Amino acid sequence: MKTLLVDLGERSYPIVFGQRIVDEVGRLCNELKLGERAMVITNSTIGRHYFNELENSLTRYGFVVSLLEIPEGEEYKNIDTLKLIYDSLVNDCLDRGSFLVALGGGVIGDITGFAAATYLRGISYVQVPTSLLAQVDSSVGGKTGINHEKGKNLIGAFYQPRMVLIDVSTLDTLPEREYISGLAEVVKYGIIYDSELFDFVSNNAEKLLARDKSCLMSAVNRSCEIKASVVTKDEREAGLRAILNFGHTIGHAVENLTDYQQYLHGEAVSIGMAQAARISATMGYSTMRDSDKIISLLTRLKLPVELPSFSAESYLAAILHDKKVKDGRITFVLNNGIGAYSLVNITDLNSLLKACGLGG
Ligand code: NAD
Ligand code: GLY
Repeated sequence: MKTLLVDLGERSYPIVFGQRIVDEVGRLCNELKLGERAMVITNSTIGRHYFNELENSLTRYGFVVSLLEIPEGEEYKNIDTLKLIYDSLVNDCLDRGSFLVALGGGVIGDITGFAAATYLRGISYVQVPTSLLAQVDSSVGGKTGINHEKGKNLIGAFYQPRMVLIDVSTLDTLPEREYISGLAEVVKYGIIYDSELFDFVSNNAEKLLARDKSCLMSAVNRSCEIKASVVTKDEREAGLRAILNFGHTIGHAVENLTDYQQYLHGEAVSIGMAQAARISATMGYSTMRDSDKIISLLTRLKLPVELPSFSAESYLAAILHDKKVKDGRITFVLNNGIGAYSLVNITDLNSLLKACGLGG
């Protein structure tokens, strides 16, 4: 087992990594002196695999455990499901000393974190992420929330967990497409922050695709180190944290244009990163060789890299719709070579689209 501290003063917390460590949750919650009662929030698919072990671990240390299974899927990350959670918390009389455990992917983590942030003006929660995306991204950093029918993640709060416990063995049951989609976020950290991580993924692409545990531990660990380091410097996304949105502006446009039906988030981000790499090379922040290397790695990882066929105008409208665009100006995250980033203000969005082969 390895531990990394997310250093945020009184809101600091450990990220604990290992294989087959769901069984350690009770001991670690006990060490953190979390209260007597825990509600585990999960869905039936994930609960079937991991709830019993988690429950045994917590009860062994004297915690009183209840379970709430919520419906599975992004479409349920909404106010109705949040109400289900509040109702269970109220009906089970969970008090300020109680805590929540988010056992699942980013959907479970985000909604559970938001319930914890708001129930009784804030109770503790612990993240036990079970998807690769949640292990390398969403469980760390305290962004919690739900979707609104008009847009994703429009309602939420920054609210840090008390601990993140990452058991890479839980990835064994993750569907292949979800797993590969999570790899896109690992590549993202390599491109913008750490050329060694990029090379590591490149040199071990086949092993990672085969979910080799030792490679996964290294990749997940390094990704969390990078995320923790960024969050520590800019918890509330006043500046630096925006670099984690590399590939996301065009990725969100792709998701939006395809009604969130065709691509998983990481797949759309992969397409967005390939375009961002092309834009970086066109604007002189990197070379064509760098963008070829990036696109080739994404392709080897079986991730999509080509924009689905929509007009330049449609892409422009979708990009302008993004909540991060202000007055038609966009702060775009570009890669500076491989392993570093540049935040670039772009007003001429047409030239940006041209670099992606769109428009004349
Ligand atoms: P998800 O939570 O929907 O999980 C993907 C699918 O895999 C689901 O069907 C889930 O039930 C299943 N699953 C998860 N772990 C499993 C396992 N071990 N075995 C079997 N099945 C498993 O999707 P995700 O990609 O984990 O997360 C996406 C969500 O994360 C989005 O809502 C997004 O907005 C959010 N997100 C949040 C942040 C943040 O910083 N808070 C960052 C990125 C994404
Ligand atoms: N996933 C981006 C962030 O946490 O800021």
